[in-house]
Amino acid sequence: MPIPPRERLIVALDLPDVTAAEAMVEKLGDAVSFYKIGFELALAGGIPFAQELARSGKKVFLDLKLHDIANTVKRATERAAELGATFFTVHAFPPTMRAAVEGREKSTLKILAVTVLTSWDDADLVEAGYAHSVKDLVRMRAKQAREIGVDGIVASAAEAADLRKKIGSMLLVTPGIRPAGDAPGDQKRIVTPKDAIRAGSDYLVVGRPVLNAGDPKAAAEAIVAEIAQTLT
Ligand code: C5P
Repeated sequence: MPIPPRERLIVALDLPDVTAAEAMVEKLGDAVSFYKIGFELALAGGIPFAQELARSGKKVFLDLKLHDIANTVKRATERAAELGATFFTVHAFPPTMRAAVEGREKSTLKILAVTVLTSWDDADLVEAGYAHSVKDLVRMRAKQAREIGVDGIVASAAEAADLRKKIGSMLLVTPGIRPAGDAPGDQKRIVTPKDAIRAGSDYLVVGRPVLNAGDPKAAAEAIVAEIAQTLT
């Protein structure tokens, strides 16, 4: 079944506390049905809040980028499934991905693998002991994720077109989105919603262009409209 355009927008609740997050969710109302919760909010009461969001009918992307021993990853993934999350991230190391896939088992939770953090460059990889360029490592890990049965990949929207060819029907979730004319902030390789969808993204993760807009609901509606228009 095709994903409805509204559900393809995931708003990143990069906010300092639950009060601010609740106010934003209230403001966005039915314009947004999918929210991402990362470390900042998770460490400020965001886990019970994620559970409440899921109970209220919203979808939740828990972006905790897990990487630990297999037993811990598997058990933590089971807990993420129990609390009602829809997406859960792990780093794309094969033992970690296998453990997460085991942990999600028959639940509806989807595991997304983070191939290489987009803030890393080739020099960072050399320093960390890798003999690969970022480009090669992204491709290698995407291939491994597919073989292991991970549900999707998180990658910069700028990499979407290249990855789409390699990952078949896996989900492709892309941050680094900026509507035309918006400030890039610290994102270096930004892509408009239209271009991300054209390149094969399934879901767009958007933070500041919505959170910092004068009218966040209108900003979200405009992105959903652009997605819908691109898909027709
Ligand atoms: O505010 P902005 O739209 O740049 O937020 C993007 C969101 O996507 C943030 O929550 C950020 O942590 C996340 N992200 C990213 N680049 C990645 C992975 C995740 O910007 N490679």
